[in-house]
Amino acid sequence: MNNTVKTLILTLVSIFAVTFAAQSQGASKLQTNIKTNSVSSPDGRIKLEFSTSWMGVPFYQVSVDGKPFIKESGLGISYGGAAPTGHTVDKVQYRWEQKEIWQQPWGENKVNLSYYNEMKVTLLSGIATYEIIYFRLFNDGFAIRYTYNVDNAVQVPVTEDNTSFFFAENGTAWWQPADPDTYELEYRKTPLSEVGHANTPLTIKFDNGLYASIHEAALYNFPEMTIVRHPSDSLLFMASLSETIKGVTNIKASVGADFETPWRTVQIGRSATDLINSSLILNLNEPSKIADTSWIKPMKYIGIWWGMHLGVNTWTEGERHGATTAEAKRHIDFAAKHKIDAVLIEGWNEGWETWGNTQKFCYTCPYSDFDIKEVSEYAAEKGVKIIGHHETGGNISAYESKLDTSMTWYKNYGIDCIKTGYAGGIPGNFTHHGQYLVNHYQKVVETAARHNMMLDVHEPVKDTGIRRTWPNMMTREGGRGMEWNAWSRGNTPSHTVTLPYTALLAGPMDYNPGIFDILYTNTRNLPQRKQWNPNDTGDSRVNTTLAKQIANWVILYSPLQMAADLIDNYEGHPAFRFFEEFEPDCDISRAIDGEIGEYIVIVRKAGDKYFLGASTDETPREVTLPLTFLEKDKQYTATIYADGEKADWKTNPTDYTISEKNVSASDTLQIKMASGGGQAIIFAPTVKKQ
Ligand code: NOJ
Ligand code: CA
Repeated sequence: MNNTVKTLILTLVSIFAVTFAAQSQGASKLQTNIKTNSVSSPDGRIKLEFSTSWMGVPFYQVSVDGKPFIKESGLGISYGGAAPTGHTVDKVQYRWEQKEIWQQPWGENKVNLSYYNEMKVTLLSGIATYEIIYFRLFNDGFAIRYTYNVDNAVQVPVTEDNTSFFFAENGTAWWQPADPDTYELEYRKTPLSEVGHANTPLTIKFDNGLYASIHEAALYNFPEMTIVRHPSDSLLFMASLSETIKGVTNIKASVGADFETPWRTVQIGRSATDLINSSLILNLNEPSKIADTSWIKPMKYIGIWWGMHLGVNTWTEGERHGATTAEAKRHIDFAAKHKIDAVLIEGWNEGWETWGNTQKFCYTCPYSDFDIKEVSEYAAEKGVKIIGHHETGGNISAYESKLDTSMTWYKNYGIDCIKTGYAGGIPGNFTHHGQYLVNHYQKVVETAARHNMMLDVHEPVKDTGIRRTWPNMMTREGGRGMEWNAWSRGNTPSHTVTLPYTALLAGPMDYNPGIFDILYTNTRNLPQRKQWNPNDTGDSRVNTTLAKQIANWVILYSPLQMAADLIDNYEGHPAFRFFEEFEPDCDISRAIDGEIGEYIVIVRKAGDKYFLGASTDETPREVTLPLTFLEKDKQYTATIYADGEKADWKTNPTDYTISEKNVSASDTLQIKMASGGGQAIIFAPTVKKQ
């Protein structure tokens, strides 16, 4: 393509983008066509209507329980440098009561129900052979997907996603400013009408009491979607695709002539916990492409990790090096003794000297004081797994060129789970959340699947449920995790009671909970502790009580769940028994009670045990908990890890108690939590003494 043609296409694309966006903003500005088609959720409570304006612009509106929920809002993608205005509806087809019960090898819930009605609208327009819009209406929300076939095109430049959400009511929103490179930002709580440009999941409590979360499902070969308020109305929000190359806003992606977008999703609940209990995002993803999933297993792990974040150890080789052979063996011994499946080892390979600079990591070159053969053989002898680590620093092309060999190399040492990291800028000005990186992350997932490798991705693109299709994609960070407490003013007490209702709606998070030395009493004054992160003001700490750290092992779901503290802080600590007994491979999860950013109570069943986690923000709380989730006619021993009488996250964070009670499904417990506190309970069937 010569430059003149390119310029022409770009100009047309931008003119079109502006025109189409204005047309599709929705609002009463649209004059509707005569014909409206509609579809409702199986229970009839959510109803979506589709129409086209007299100019052939498609739009939709949604009501819940007969009341307006989303007013006339735009649909479609702008692409290819020419406007797909003048749509005519070719046909409308329905699939009613689609019901599927499906299973996954691991997850919050192993068995899920997908139940929806679908309306498929085929549109004809000038330049596309067809455009199809799929509307799926579930009882817990709805989703929209576009598929296109663009005539005579080989590659199609995508300008923007024109889906809009014109909410009928104001409300309160919990949101994170959209940033194409990071999700490690604090959440904001504002009126919906004051949200600016937000990441998804964007969670809202409407003034009428309904809850909703906007996100996307099945993100492949496309940039992530963010949500931006339109200047014309404070309740009108537009989808906005993340830039793939920083500063390039007129072309966000390039796709083939036949393409389908991710689903644009709206979860709807009558309570905050309904959002957590919904499996809508997973239901919109395809079944597993990995036929034999028997090698994919949730694990509990510890790691050579926190010492580096605290500044006691280094990732680089030297006097304070963390990942030495001796340290690795010490961690393996600890794991074997305390019934922990795996040990994460970071900072074992050459290249850390270049982190934040040229980012040249070698994934087959252990430092001279780390003997991978000795370590992996020792781990195998002790029945402990090693979780490998590939830090890329954002150097994607270097990592991709070594991907296969690096995985084969680890595999030869029996390592079948890798944590990856992308802390750093991407050469070529690519963003972390644009199409290029989405494709890169996917390439790693598929390469890992071929090697029977599980993945834990830090600095990832957000989850959109692809773990159903690629169950080796276990967990990802994608939020402000524990590390921030080591070297900054840290995460507020409300942060971890906001995450389950926001980021974690997308999928599991490798938050790294479980710091027992909350005030860093054992390391703060060590001479070898050095400031390494510029955010470190020297007074960092964890802003919770100890009981809340324990509760977070249950609340912050991750199939790879870490006890993140230094192992010396666990050795001999009575409360560590909780983690020893904790089962990361649960069967059923239920969020029982809670409000966004305030508190949460979640219970997970694993085998015949139940694990309960409850936590609160700064406000001390007492929650009444009927134990109706327990099996009837069975006696349980409840081991309760609670805040002590004088516990308070600020003044007395390590005051805790452990007690036991005999309970059954007909009992009720009072869950008492201190300011910034929590409670964790293991319910195990009572073993009758002979
Ligand atoms: C950031 C990751 O989130 C953290 O877990 C890791 O230790 C560092 N990068 C170094 O890779
Ligand atoms: Ca991180």
